[in-house]
Amino acid sequence: MAKQLYEKFDAGQVTDDMLAEASLLFNENYGIWGKDAAILGPFAKPGSRVRLSKDRLRGQYLPDGAACSYVQVTVDGHLAGNAFACRWLFSGKTVCWITQLVVKYDFRERGLASGLLNQLREDDDDIYSLISSHPAACMAAAKVFGNSINLVNLDFI
Ligand SMILES: CC(C)(COP(=O)(O)OP(=O)(O)OC[C@H]1O[C@@H](n2cnc3c(N)ncnc32)[C@H](O)[C@@H]1OP(=O)(O)O)[C@@H](O)C(=O)NCCC(=O)NCCS
Repeated sequence: MAKQLYEKFDAGQVTDDMLAEASLLFNENYGIWGKDAAILGPFAKPGSRVRLSKDRLRGQYLPDGAACSYVQVTVDGHLAGNAFACRWLFSGKTVCWITQLVVKYDFRERGLASGLLNQLREDDDDIYSLISSHPAACMAAAKVFGNSINLVNLDFI
């Protein structure tokens, strides 16, 4: 049976090698720019893969001074998925924002996204956020952070 290992890191513990691996995972598995993406800029070429460099991951997903976390899951020693999150206070509540969630194509639909989000839960959190048009990401977040997608707090949003 395959060995699954979840590991959680604070931003300061994430090495450049880990980010290089995370960048590769993202570039090969996140998604493809749609036909109207060109309005975003020349980098968004319809039909080509959405990409993120390790430097951009560091600068935008683990910015200095922010309380950010990185979670990865390996299957038999190979990176199969990961998630980034940042926390801050808003109106006296601790918000945990999932800024990225990716699972390798070959390892989807076996609960890894839910497992990654589960690792990010902390007792002091009041609010969890994830913006995604991917139904599986929304399903995973609703299951891990709440009871049902029907109970999302729209007033807070
Ligand atoms: C979204 C993504 C992370 C889901 O990863 P995953 O490991 O396959 O998700 P899980 O196996 O944990 O499934 C989560 C839920 O979605 C459901 N689901 C997953 N894939 C599904 C599919 N293709 N069709 C129907 N339901 C699906 C699962 O059944 C599960 O629901 P359940 O707990 O009620 O059974 C993965 O598809 C991915 O990397 N997509 C590209 C990147 C992306 O869009 N990320 C989200 C934006 S940040």
